[in-house]
Amino acid sequence: MREVTYYVATSLDGFIAAPDGDWLDAFPPEGDHMQAVLHDYTDALPGHILRALGLTADLALFDTVLMGWNTYAPALAEGIRSPYPHLTQVVATRQTREVPDEITTTDDPVATLRALRERPGSGIWLAGGGELAGAVVDEIDRLVLKINPVVVGEGVPLFAGAAYAARRFERMGLRTFDSGVMIAEFARRR
Ligand SMILES: NC(=O)c1ccc[n+]([C@@H]2O[C@H](COP(=O)([O-])OP(=O)(O)OC[C@H]3O[C@@H](n4cnc5c(N)ncnc54)[C@H](OP(=O)(O)O)[C@@H]3O)[C@@H](O)[C@H]2O)c1
Repeated sequence: MREVTYYVATSLDGFIAAPDGDWLDAFPPEGDHMQAVLHDYTDALPGHILRALGLTADLALFDTVLMGWNTYAPALAEGIRSPYPHLTQVVATRQTREVPDEITTTDDPVATLRALRERPGSGIWLAGGGELAGAVVDEIDRLVLKINPVVVGEGVPLFAGAAYAARRFERMGLRTFDSGVMIAEFARRR
């Protein structure tokens, strides 16, 4: 069965973006961890970054991405209609939204993830943001956290709105970098 992986950059205090949605300030894409980001998680790079760096996504890790509307919308606002053209792109929204042909929308991301799991393919990347991650938290099989050595105080939480429950994960890997970033991988204990 295909796995759902929430692969995301977070602060030490569990925020994935500033209150205004910016993340570059807290999670600068520089330092030795970027080698891992570029070469081990290539499938999760936007198409324009792949092109700029001459990289190719082989889809071995992910062939599908699910993102919340607030995660997709900034790309759309910048004219990037299809941020991950190498992936099947699904955007969660409760609205009727006009989207490019390359994008599928869903108003029931839990059902969508369950249906996607039944189809053949490689991994499903849950890109975020926090509201969507909170809504589908019980569908997550793996967490890959790029933990940045910064405390931001407030912002968009890693998970928003999920009911309390001790959802246990097992640590599968931990890589530390001179940049201070750690990439921690966890698998859900079922
Ligand atoms: N650090 C990172 O790696 C990272 C990764 C991803 C995102 N981010 C940041 O996170 C921020 C966005 O996160 P967010 O929590 O504000 O928003 P989000 O989860 O990206 O999007 C929220 C929207 O998704 C839709 N949605 C959420 N749950 C749904 C459900 N159960 N059913 C149907 N639709 C649902 C709704 O869209 P409608 O309003 O259209 O109904 C909702 O308003 C952005 O600033 C982004 O840059 C950071």
